[in-house]
Amino acid sequence: MINDIESVLIPEEKIRARIKEMAKQIENDYKGKTITVICILRGASVFFCDLVREINLDVRFEFMSVSSYGAGTTSSGEVRIVKDINTPLNGKDVLIVEDIIDSGSTLSFLKKILEQRGPASIKVCTLLDKPSRRKVDFKGDYVGFEIEDKFVVGCGLDYAEKYRNLRDVCILKPEVYTK
Ligand code: IMP
Ligand code: MG
Repeated sequence: MINDIESVLIPEEKIRARIKEMAKQIENDYKGKTITVICILRGASVFFCDLVREINLDVRFEFMSVSSYGAGTTSSGEVRIVKDINTPLNGKDVLIVEDIIDSGSTLSFLKKILEQRGPASIKVCTLLDKPSRRKVDFKGDYVGFEIEDKFVVGCGLDYAEKYRNLRDVCILKPEVYTK
């Protein structure tokens, strides 16, 4: 697996330090509140586990899975819910945790759907953001790192379901995509 990596874009230590900063910001913004944190499977799983353990507040866990049709390194823009939550969200302070904002279609779709369930508030927290790739206007409330237009893996992010368990955010060798 390690042979498929071209370079490390964001090392583990930097990710850990940034997650601590984001957690502090979230703690300040939600002081005295209960946060319903929705982890978007599977990409956000690693970031979610690291983030929630740094938040010193009453945090409730929820897990959802959405898919954008199609494989490869681009999303098709068509999004559907694969696994929904069964907890009502009305009156709750909801924080969606996602791995990356790319075209923006997944999160803008998801946020719209969840807004219809009447939460008190709804915000989005993402480890990575590729603003140059946006097709749908979307802004994250808490963003770990803005990155350039490169396909990355590790820290939960995959290519064809591989590399999610890498500790760093990495760039793959181009030949991996053409294998
Ligand atoms: P969007 O709907 O285009 O914003 O795409 C979001 C989804 O595409 C993410 O949840 C990821 O699963 C996937 N994705 C986008 N960019 C990357 C990347 O660089 N590496 C791995 N997955 C990515
Ligand atoms: Mg993915």
